Amino acid sequence: LIVTTIAVILALVQVLFTSTANAEEIVVKFSHVVAEDTPKGQTAIRFKEIVEQRLAGQVKVEIYPNAKLMDDEAVIDGLQRNVIQIAAPSLSLLEPYSKSFKIFDLPFLFTSAEAIDRFQQGSTGQQLLGALRGADIDGLCFLHNGMKQISANVPLRLPADAKGKKFRIQPSSVIEAQFNAIGAIPVRAPFTKVFHLLQTGALDGQENTWSNVYSQRIYEVQPYITETNHASLEYMLIVSHTFWTMLPDDVRTNLTAAAKEACAYGNSIARDLNATDRKKIEASHYTQIIALTPQQRQQWMTALKPIWTTFEPTIGKNILDAAIAANS
Ligand code: LMR
Repeated sequence: LIVTTIAVILALVQVLFTSTANAEEIVVKFSHVVAEDTPKGQTAIRFKEIVEQRLAGQVKVEIYPNAKLMDDEAVIDGLQRNVIQIAAPSLSLLEPYSKSFKIFDLPFLFTSAEAIDRFQQGSTGQQLLGALRGADIDGLCFLHNGMKQISANVPLRLPADAKGKKFRIQPSSVIEAQFNAIGAIPVRAPFTKVFHLLQTGALDGQENTWSNVYSQRIYEVQPYITETNHASLEYMLIVSHTFWTMLPDDVRTNLTAAAKEACAYGNSIARDLNATDRKKIEASHYTQIIALTPQQRQQWMTALKPIWTTFEPTIGKNILDAAIAANS
């Protein structure tokens, strides 16, 4: 870590010195793994627009979508080494750096998108923005994608239908526990590999939002998608603390404000974008969307809710209580 920190400081001194000496622009590279026409893709574009309008000639934003530069599993290291300057990974990927983020993966925890907003904007959520400081990372704002659905090569109506099937998951112990709880086999794999793993039949299913299922063409290789709405895919815009604090004050203030405005914009379009992508998937006739009856959904909840108790000690009772309280 010390070597990395020194390397980062040297790189930053060089960047900042060059930028004052030659009036060169500071380049902010934004890496993400999804398509541009998604909540995260659109948020990155909005961030670039705001920054390049307000800090014209001072800061240039380069966006690398679709994992062109790196998978999201690599962004913390990329920020620490100053290879990229901003990212927005799924909170499920942050588990190695802070156990608190597991809260967002607990199935059937938040009862509405508004509840997630209340939790994130409340005092516990705002504290979580600082939970990665030990890794030299600052969180700037939370960003929604949307509710996750479960697709497979067989119709899943009851939890027992998933038994023995292999599902791609993000690297999250909660999501792993979720599939284990229904007798399925969770397999961790990067986002960029999902389509191929499903197309070749190496895996049977996966969980993701409508916008990711649409933009990655997952629906073309999955004949059934069960509308479980069991948890939300959430992101955080993150930067290196060292990089951020070494920026000139006015630049940092403007960049922070731009990130928050971009998050607010992304959050305002996320729900509609997912609803539109759901319609496009439905209209494509590649796949059948399965709606659960209240009784069927209750069975999924009964099977999955015990996971809350399993993870309460590692997440923290105060965080779990705050999340439950945000529902009302
Ligand atoms: C996934 O791996 O499914 C997601 O984290 C991808 C994303 O960034 O939306």
